[in-house]
Amino acid sequence: MTQDELKQAVAQAAADHVAAHTPEGSLIGVGTGSTANFFIDALARQKHRYRGAVASSEATRQRLEAHGMAVFDLNDVSDLPVYIDGADEVDAGLNMIKGGGGALTREKIVAAVARTFICIADASKQVTTLGRFPLPVEVVPMARAHVARELEKLGGRPVLRSGFMTDNGNQILDVHGLSIADPKGLEATINQIVGVLTNGLFAMRPADILLLATPDGVRRSG
Ligand code: A5P
Repeated sequence: MTQDELKQAVAQAAADHVAAHTPEGSLIGVGTGSTANFFIDALARQKHRYRGAVASSEATRQRLEAHGMAVFDLNDVSDLPVYIDGADEVDAGLNMIKGGGGALTREKIVAAVARTFICIADASKQVTTLGRFPLPVEVVPMARAHVARELEKLGGRPVLRSGFMTDNGNQILDVHGLSIADPKGLEATINQIVGVLTNGLFAMRPADILLLATPDGVRRSG
């Protein structure tokens, strides 16, 4: 199976899970990235079941709307039963690195509101220790150099994602060379650096369920 076929399989499994576990008329939180895009396509095939969706990025909002799904502002939503999103890395505790697509802040916000976070990934994303994938950190542009110096003190090698601006008008530093033994601790430490909006560690709010696509089928943890 190709990686795209694995992503498609796990996206369909997630759409089936959501259809089986959420009441008709629910709102669904939707992530960002190539795996999430396959999920949007699968979700839209059953769009009559749902009231609409909450999007974690402008790209996701546009794809949902192109399928004719209503997209709600999170501020108008008090209950979100489920959020489905991909990951760049996921460990056995369902801690993740996210933000390869740059949508980490909105992803973290929607995930915070959702009752259940379902991570969908192909088996290449599973790791023993997080950190081989460079950790994305969203920074307010005027603080970029300060934040980079502080990240170096933590042992990382921050690289500006050139030519990229987030949906929030900020920049991304991709931090190389971290071996993350304590994901929760590092998430909190980086969040304390003035000028950091969010970092791509999802450990204080990890996934509740992982659907992992392998050539032998989709495996569930959590
Ligand atoms: C977007 O900002 C990311 O968090 C993505 O969810 C993550 O990078 C996974 O993307 P793919 O499904 O494209 O690998």
